[in-house]
Amino acid sequence: MNTLIVYSTKYGCTEKCAELLSKKLIGKVDIINLKKVSYIDISKYEKIIIGGSIYIGKIQKEVTEFCSKNLDKLKEKRIGLFICGMQEGEIINNEFNQNFNSEIIKITDAKEHFGGEFNFNKMNFMEKIIVKKISKVTSSKSNILEDNIRKFAQVMNAN
Ligand SMILES: Cc1cc2nc3c(=O)[nH]c(=O)nc-3n(C[C@H](O)[C@H](O)[C@H](O)COP(=O)(O)O)c2cc1C
Repeated sequence: MNTLIVYSTKYGCTEKCAELLSKKLIGKVDIINLKKVSYIDISKYEKIIIGGSIYIGKIQKEVTEFCSKNLDKLKEKRIGLFICGMQEGEIINNEFNQNFNSEIIKITDAKEHFGGEFNFNKMNFMEKIIVKKISKVTSSKSNILEDNIRKFAQVMNAN
């Protein structure tokens, strides 16, 4: 079975998670950064995994566009969705529901939060201010949820 992971990232955390996930999946896996490729033929893949990171409640527009452009074809695939973000619990649930088309969420096999990272060396001035104010975090922090990546891979590997 062929799997495609498409993702978008600002500072690399989602890319790191996509790569960690790809190592746990069986079969052939291709990974595509949606910011670098404009047209993707998804016909040769049976499984499609879509991931992005959340900034002030929103996922990257490339992710939303990929989902809406391919909506009909995605309905014929096995689907996995993941997000990277530093929020937790119900907020993450809302972030899924607000950022992915409800028709895709309905047919999703695996849906997980992979955690996130605050990288103060890469953030711009305004971002540092926002993070300090909202999350009360003042230096770089990594919280990649490897258990969630493992669970997600197990579900996608079944059948
Ligand atoms: C300015 C800013 C706003 C953020 N807003 C959110 C948010 O609304 N919800 C959330 O879960 N995480 C939020 N985050 C955390 C990012 O989603 C997290 O840093 C993620 O790992 C970034 O992944 P990336 O490097 O792949 O873009 C925010 C981070 C920054 C810098």
